[in-house]
Amino acid sequence: MQEQIKNTKTLEELQTLYTATFGKNGTMTAKLKNMKNLDNDARAKLNRENAALRELFKSRQTELENAAMHAALATQRLDPSLNPIPENRGTLHPLTQTLSDVSSILESFGYEMWTGPEIEDDWHNFTALNTPEYHPARDMQDTFFLENGNVMRTQTSAIQIRSMETVGAPIKMFGIGATYRKEMDATHSPMFHQIEGLYIDKNITMSDLIADVREFLKRFFNMDNVDLRIRPSYFPFTEPSIEIDMKWHGDRWLEIMGAGMVHPNVLRNCNINPDEYQGFAFGFGWDRLAMLKYGLNDIRKFYDGDVRWLQKTGF
Ligand code: DAH
Repeated sequence: MQEQIKNTKTLEELQTLYTATFGKNGTMTAKLKNMKNLDNDARAKLNRENAALRELFKSRQTELENAAMHAALATQRLDPSLNPIPENRGTLHPLTQTLSDVSSILESFGYEMWTGPEIEDDWHNFTALNTPEYHPARDMQDTFFLENGNVMRTQTSAIQIRSMETVGAPIKMFGIGATYRKEMDATHSPMFHQIEGLYIDKNITMSDLIADVREFLKRFFNMDNVDLRIRPSYFPFTEPSIEIDMKWHGDRWLEIMGAGMVHPNVLRNCNINPDEYQGFAFGFGWDRLAMLKYGLNDIRKFYDGDVRWLQKTGF
């Protein structure tokens, strides 16, 4: 019997032998059932035999289990020193990161974020912005017109109008979103993004505008100081209108944004009395700001969804 146990090769074999010994009809079970007919010495002997056999089964089971584990380890190798398979972690898109930076700066100045519809009516995209019907900005060359007379929003300035219509004055807001124009090259995409600021209250002046823009640019580009150049310009919805340039890397002037004092007609169109309230607006390319900050030169790449490009940008 002891030899038999030691010679088992598998756990199944051992289990079969165990059942034949200790099972309902097992040999040892039968002997134990007969215990009452034995004398004391024979009982003691049988008890010892029983205990020894159980012990033997247990140790053979341990041996076979260990052997099975070693066999498994030999074929299923686990090498904890191997490098893990590199995982592709998601990161923020440069535009998302830029918006997050821009909005936290503008919100710290008290501007509240607004959005608006990308399909706009003529009123919000043009007319209320003091853009007369003959203005070249309405030209078929630039604007995507829909059949029902609506347009794909050409500028986030439309959001200014919606915010003033809703809230009135005073108001301090910035609008963000996608804008659309028929143009396409490395620095122009038919869909791009703008960010627009508006501050209307009593006694708001051009110096408030320049102070906010300067502080904004300093924080956004992490610069101790920014050199600004203010050039007269023209936008239908501001009077006077300016363009703001920024000194870039000490030698170049970059056009950063359009701005100006909100035209009295625009305020009137939103039921705000221009004799009581005035203020400024500014608008800039969200994509362009991201390109400058991260040193990117092709706006179209923002929309390709090419992970290799994103990784190259350091994102
Ligand atoms: N909407 C203008 C554009 O798309 C940008 C702009 C200029 C916005 C002056 C303004 C502003 O709010 O005051 O070119």
